[in-house]
Amino acid sequence: MTVIERARTGFIAHYGAEPDGVVFAPGRVNLIGEHVDYNDGLVLPMPISVGTAIAWQSAPGATIDAVALDFGEQTDRFAWAKPARTGAADWRTYLRGMSAAMSARRLPVGGTKLAIAGSLPRGSGLSSSASLCIAVGRALAAAGGELAPRPRELALAAQRAEHDWAGVRCGIMDQMVIAAGAPGSAFLLDCRDLNGRTVDLPDDWAVLVVQSGVRRELVDGHYNARRAACVAAAEALDLGSLREATSEMVEVAALDDEVRARARHVVTEIARVRRAVDCIAARDLVGFGQCLAESHTSLRDDFAVTVPPVDRLVERLQAATGPRGGARMTGAGFGGAVVAVCEHGEVARVCAEIAQTYRCPDGSAPEIMIEITDARGAGETT
Ligand code: GLA
Repeated sequence: MTVIERARTGFIAHYGAEPDGVVFAPGRVNLIGEHVDYNDGLVLPMPISVGTAIAWQSAPGATIDAVALDFGEQTDRFAWAKPARTGAADWRTYLRGMSAAMSARRLPVGGTKLAIAGSLPRGSGLSSSASLCIAVGRALAAAGGELAPRPRELALAAQRAEHDWAGVRCGIMDQMVIAAGAPGSAFLLDCRDLNGRTVDLPDDWAVLVVQSGVRRELVDGHYNARRAACVAAAEALDLGSLREATSEMVEVAALDDEVRARARHVVTEIARVRRAVDCIAARDLVGFGQCLAESHTSLRDDFAVTVPPVDRLVERLQAATGPRGGARMTGAGFGGAVVAVCEHGEVARVCAEIAQTYRCPDGSAPEIMIEITDARGAGETT
């Protein structure tokens, strides 16, 4: 059963009525441009075929009712005009936070019944929270009669929910690609002005999302600390953001070594996104693979957000793809998934090789999602 069918049948089972509709919001994998969105940088993420589906029905009255089908059918009920805090950073926090942020941005919110189902592996760095928020946004807007809410508005509301309700000072990459990206294509986003455009990968490139088996947990503190270091570097350089910095400025400024390293990552990573986009246009898989490898090294050595099993998995994937492709960590770091790119024709061999050479910390073979860029075969999972 697809996640959309699960949401629909779960709605009927829980509320005893047909929903008015079902919405879907994908997760995302970031191809390149890591930890640069909150520095006004450039990012190149891609929506993936798994995500969050919500069956919805508009209901008279002042309450939002919701059931989380994947969390033991936990329920939530609150007054949409004034949602109270739950005290825990769980799915209810995102639901309530999104509802509050939508009201604040004058997006339609009203009495609604929701049944939520997800197909994203949790703790994998594939943006399950942004996927949930955008799906909630689409469902609430649809119930309020707005079938095509502006992606940018939804994304900004979802970011507010993360900041004000979950306490994570995230950037805008995840919310924007999920709200505005096209399935099967990468999305080049300028986080300074939120202008984005679809970037089609060459037909013969495949994107693999490989789980390291290390669950991302309690990363919020590390994340906020990295963000604070970037702000400190920009302030020391007397710039509005690190987007305006050059490598020369970072190397000569009076910064402490750790802050300099964080800033070096940001400046070099933004340059790598530009190079990676040029490689895509030139169908240069070798060059693209080099960008991925340099990004990972920079995230490991300068930004310090990788963990040893993820470094190992990246090395094994780089060995498996060879120069015609590559791999890097993806997302906030500290565990979770790794992204790899190779030719379609090499996918089966790369998957077989990685199943031999990498073991998750619990001894199992890693789960691999294959995102084929021409959409025909999108969403296979080994
Ligand atoms: C998380 C955040 C994003 C971004 C990435 C790192 O996914 O939600 O805003 O900062 O980490 O690139």
